[in-house]
Amino acid sequence: MSSNKNKYYITTPIYYVNDRPHIGHAYTTLVADVLARYYSLKLGEDKVFFLTGTDEHGDKVARSAKEAGLEPQAFTDQIAELYKQAWQNLNINYNYFIRTTDQDHVGAVQKIFNELKEAKTPKGNPAIYQADYQGLYCTGCEKFMTDKDLVDGKCPDHNREPEELSEKNWFFRLSDYTQILEEKIIKDEILILPEGRKNETLGLIKQGVSDFSISRESVKWGVEIPFDRSQKSYVWVDALSNYITAIGYPDDQVKFKAWWPADLHLMAQDILKFHAFYWPALLMALDLPLPKTEFIHGFFTIDGRKMSKTVGNVIKPDDLVKKYGADGTRYLLLSQFSFGFESDIKVELFDERYNSDLANGLGNLASRTANLIEKNDLPVKVELMEEKVENSLIENYNFNEALKEIREMMTEADQLIDQTKPWELVKSDIEQATKVLTEVAGRIVRLALRLRPFMPQTAGQLIDQFTAGKIVKGESLFPRIN
Ligand code: MSP
Repeated sequence: MSSNKNKYYITTPIYYVNDRPHIGHAYTTLVADVLARYYSLKLGEDKVFFLTGTDEHGDKVARSAKEAGLEPQAFTDQIAELYKQAWQNLNINYNYFIRTTDQDHVGAVQKIFNELKEAKTPKGNPAIYQADYQGLYCTGCEKFMTDKDLVDGKCPDHNREPEELSEKNWFFRLSDYTQILEEKIIKDEILILPEGRKNETLGLIKQGVSDFSISRESVKWGVEIPFDRSQKSYVWVDALSNYITAIGYPDDQVKFKAWWPADLHLMAQDILKFHAFYWPALLMALDLPLPKTEFIHGFFTIDGRKMSKTVGNVIKPDDLVKKYGADGTRYLLLSQFSFGFESDIKVELFDERYNSDLANGLGNLASRTANLIEKNDLPVKVELMEEKVENSLIENYNFNEALKEIREMMTEADQLIDQTKPWELVKSDIEQATKVLTEVAGRIVRLALRLRPFMPQTAGQLIDQFTAGKIVKGESLFPRIN
């Protein structure tokens, strides 16, 4: 299968429905949206496929449903809806929202299991086999733990003891893929970014990679293994498969081949291992090409602390949208720190930056410019020329730098107004005032063109406002917050 360079298939992790959408999920999804919008402008809308969704099976979800007094399906229906709503409020323009309880997905996962059953590893062994499993399982992580993963006998992420499990499971022979995986990662056949994460992955491979169980006997809420009805799919096999089932695997080969391999899987470091080992090895067993790039961004903390229900510092994207609007929230989340690194969100900076960069910055520039044009009835005309869309900062995942560049364009336009004082010029030299404000309006349009992937609504409004036959002030884009 040759890979089609002229398309862009981007995915986010599919989020667990035991949690409600918070700004951690929002951040990854927002970045995916910016990239998808950017490549839509660059390559054409029909050349981009942006996938997100929800991960709905497994014990963790079944338990949350029980706590909520609901059947798992009814529970997941509710939470999946919350994710869709949150993404709509943030103006996330995905092409498809997959739910792992979708019947199409479930059927496809079963076919994948059948294929795995027939598959051979590079060493000629059956890719999957049955064995007894005894071990410790953390339901919070949905993964088996060894003693070295524990701190004081407890899972450090969930602060509780894992459960003893003893059952017959199907295993995937990951150990047979170690060498090939290592080679492919070294050669950037799967490009793991940033560089540090690639080294971390190679380090983990060096420590040794063991086979992993791909089925569970005790789990009831999951995809039934077609050749062993006593077993359900391990949630991670079910979940990772979404990246191919969502684009038609295995039944719709035309659609599938049009999009696969993924150009980019986005995620944070918590799920690196699943994407850097398990997923490529499963794909090799299915004889499919590997994803081109995986970008692993950092986890952020809130005011120095891990975001958690217990600490009570969970920030919901909907609350930010209510206060700052969709574009305001998009700007604040993307401009605070370098994508890819662990960072800390300072909540008090949100108001400050909203006021300085958006209300007093961009909003004020647009309104003072339009106001001067309207009040003095100046014949300012800006032709909408398609600017070069290419933006290497975006292509290199340097989102806050890309926003900084736009802020600089804004500051320069502002300075031009301050220096030329068009409010005085109109009294003495209308022609010159028109010339200056035409230049400023042109700059606003160019800046808005750059801004489209980040703040689509604002950008669209600015472009319409300043390329209109008659430029009028209109409503304030970003009302000040006191
Ligand atoms: N269901 C699995 C993923 C399966 S993908 C085939 C899962 N779900 S999750 O709901 O826990 O989402 C984890 C992802 O959410 C992270 O990889 C990251 O993209 C995002 N984030 C969650 N909390 C975050 C932060 N505090 N900071 C940054 N991103 C965060 O794992």
